[in-house]
Amino acid sequence: MTDLSHPIFARLYPRLDAASARAGGDAHRAELLAGTSGRVLEVGAGHGANFAHYPPEVTEVVAVEPEPRLRAEAGRVAARAPVPVTVRPGVAEDLDLDDASFDVAVASLVLCSVRDPVRALAEVRRVLRPGGEFRYYEHVRGRTPGKVRFQRCADVVWPFLAAGCHVSRPTDEWIPGSGFTVRDERRFEFPASGANPASPHIIGVAIRD
Ligand SMILES: C[S@@+](CC[C@H](N)C(=O)[O-])C[C@H]1O[C@@H](n2cnc3c(N)ncnc32)[C@H](O)[C@@H]1O
Repeated sequence: MTDLSHPIFARLYPRLDAASARAGGDAHRAELLAGTSGRVLEVGAGHGANFAHYPPEVTEVVAVEPEPRLRAEAGRVAARAPVPVTVRPGVAEDLDLDDASFDVAVASLVLCSVRDPVRALAEVRRVLRPGGEFRYYEHVRGRTPGKVRFQRCADVVWPFLAAGCHVSRPTDEWIPGSGFTVRDERRFEFPASGANPASPHIIGVAIRD
């Protein structure tokens, strides 16, 4: 199954993301994609918020998105992107793509939402060439007991409100446990006040072993 329909979330997300972009999210996307080159896979591309940030050294982006409304908007954004972008249906856990066929894979704010993030990471690893880069920008489990408790409580309702998004996932532990070597990683609160269960973020580059 390649369609995961969340019509209310799909209507709201581009507006929420626009507010987040003004508050610093756009700069995070630019940081995420700076220095990428060659053939790129983006999983869970949403409405295409990353597309404008791909540098000219990127020869092709294959963007996989399972939500039909977001995918349609991503298709419109792709037509204005600075590099060639193809948008297609699919889920990160089961990529209809060849082994070792990408130089770079990108996941932003996605591993919180996929049903099986460990399987998604295994699929990303499979389609990356050895030495290829996994670029990620994700919100993750906090580091203090109070924050983790807050996140676990939030995760009782959060996935229902935000199309399957979970705030307490230890994605920063799963990446190095999935056949990647973390090269650079920056951890930060966004928003900086930390007054949000999804505030702990990581942005980084991991190399496919
Ligand atoms: C919070 S949005 C982020 C969208 C985009 N990556 C961005 O940075 O704005 C989460 C995205 O993950 C997608 N998603 C959910 N489950 C997925 C899965 N199993 N495989 C791939 N994408 C998935 C959703 O449809 C949605 O587009």
